[in-house]
Amino acid sequence: MDMKILGIETSCDETSASVVEVNRGKFKVLSEVVSSQIKIHRKTGGIVPEVAAREHVRNILPVIEQAVFKANLARASWRGRPGSLASGRSLLPILSDIDYIAVTAGPGLITSLMVGVEAAKTLAFVFDKKLVAVNHLAGHLASSLLLNKNIKLPALGLVVSGGHTALYLLKKFGRYEYIGGTQDDAAGEAFDKTAKLLGLPYPGGPEISRLAKLGNPDKYVMPQPMRNKPNFDFSFSGIKTHVLYEYQKNPREYKKNINDVAASFEKTVAEILTFKTLRAAKKFKARSIILAGGVAANVRLRETLSVKTLENDLALFVPELKYCTDNATMIAVAAYLQIQKKDFTNIFKLKANPNWEL
Ligand code: KG4
Ligand code: ZN
Repeated sequence: MDMKILGIETSCDETSASVVEVNRGKFKVLSEVVSSQIKIHRKTGGIVPEVAAREHVRNILPVIEQAVFKANLARASWRGRPGSLASGRSLLPILSDIDYIAVTAGPGLITSLMVGVEAAKTLAFVFDKKLVAVNHLAGHLASSLLLNKNIKLPALGLVVSGGHTALYLLKKFGRYEYIGGTQDDAAGEAFDKTAKLLGLPYPGGPEISRLAKLGNPDKYVMPQPMRNKPNFDFSFSGIKTHVLYEYQKNPREYKKNINDVAASFEKTVAEILTFKTLRAAKKFKARSIILAGGVAANVRLRETLSVKTLENDLALFVPELKYCTDNATMIAVAAYLQIQKKDFTNIFKLKANPNWEL
């Protein structure tokens, strides 16, 4: 079943649209556009939901237009009158070559999700396309499929992002069994909060990662909460609090050794994630590990997992860096799995669901 899917993602602070072609089960990205709001949220040290939503409203049509235009679709032509849309300069290409429209319907920030969902519903209605509602976490887990490699099942999927940290068992792609997750902060959230208390800008993950490269990861020993609990759950808020207390005890020294603090923090998080993932892989006899989500961009985590998976004769699949953080390409890929099962959504009934569990 060959097809072209337009993916739309607005669950948090990236407005993104992609056109993905699927040919005999292989994925080819025809276009992808990501408009990031990082600079705006940096000013407030984090995301203000209303500000994010307004930016999505401003960007959604130009981003979709660009994606469709860049995809160079054979029959894409232009319709409308100049300045008729939000972009004020471009026109909406006719989506005649697109077979399906896919959109993230949750989980995420409700006001952000709504922008993508309403745009997708409108386009699906106007251009008479089937609509696929995609769970954001299913999108992250599907991003490894873009490697177009044979992922041996069962696989264990570790999603580590700003909003989520969870382990899923995949007996087949498109079906996800939750086996454990964080009991407090998500891993990315721990990176962001720890960075903030160290005075680093938003988002903290890439900042900590940058400083960590220059630091000694063995300088500070940090707690690994829940490590010894015989389950597949995580807890990260204690590590962040530990950094806070140590910082308050001796701010000067901590500031001076900020690279070592960053490296030690990063090492601790990478180790605990790897430890629990490997434990789950053994228990469920997984053959592969799939890493996904924004924190999957972290080099130390990638390396730590890679060493352990090799030692344990497991295959590790990690998406390209640009597919770790939020993007619409992964949403189109996840949609393909649903399209095969004819899992479509009623345009008139679809509502964004900020708490949609996978
Ligand atoms: O998947 P994502 O783009 O958005 C959510 O779905 O939440 O993940 C964003 C998170 C942020 O917390 C960010 O700090 C973290 O991913 N992140 C990183 C790195 N790059 C992004 N964390 C650690 N190391 C990185 N290199
Ligand atoms: Zn995400």
